[in-house]
Amino acid sequence: MGPLIVYYSSISGNTNRFVDSLGMRAVRIPLSMKAECPVIDEPYVLICPCYADDDGSKAVPKQVIRFLNNPENRKHMQGVIGSGNRNFGDKFAYAGNVIAKKCKVPCLYKFELSGTPTDVINVREGMKKLWATLEPQEMNKKTGT
Ligand SMILES: Cc1cc2nc3c(=O)[nH]c(=O)nc-3n(C[C@H](O)[C@H](O)[C@H](O)COP(=O)(O)O)c2cc1C
Repeated sequence: MGPLIVYYSSISGNTNRFVDSLGMRAVRIPLSMKAECPVIDEPYVLICPCYADDDGSKAVPKQVIRFLNNPENRKHMQGVIGSGNRNFGDKFAYAGNVIAKKCKVPCLYKFELSGTPTDVINVREGMKKLWATLEPQEMNKKTGT
């Protein structure tokens, strides 16, 4: 199976548009906290927009925190891609940094709003390369072999 993206996008839908442009397998973390939260049992990269307060707190949307509170979901995360808006200065796509630090995964890339055609190419190529390097053990975590 090819690379998998898991992502969150609010009603403004910027991240959703970017993921659509990628044309890759993707699972969306639901907007509603009442909806069932997905459980992912294979390697994936998380794409997360930033919603920080002025002091940098609350950068990671609560829907994403709920998703990452499940150890099974954390186990398979290969890295995170942060999205945001450069108007936020040094807090640009800061949720990517927070998740990388907390979950001990690399922050692989950052893009603004719905991304540019170059962002789409970079992420597609990066995902392909990353999947080519995945240890067989990581793939086996899924099958339990
Ligand atoms: C209340 C609010 C706070 C935000 N805080 C940040 C921020 O701290 N850093 C940043 O890069 N972008 C910030 N943004 C911009 C969003 O991350 C950006 O618009 C993103 O593309 C939204 O993705 P979505 O439409 O998929 O939810 C903020 C947007 C809002 C509405």
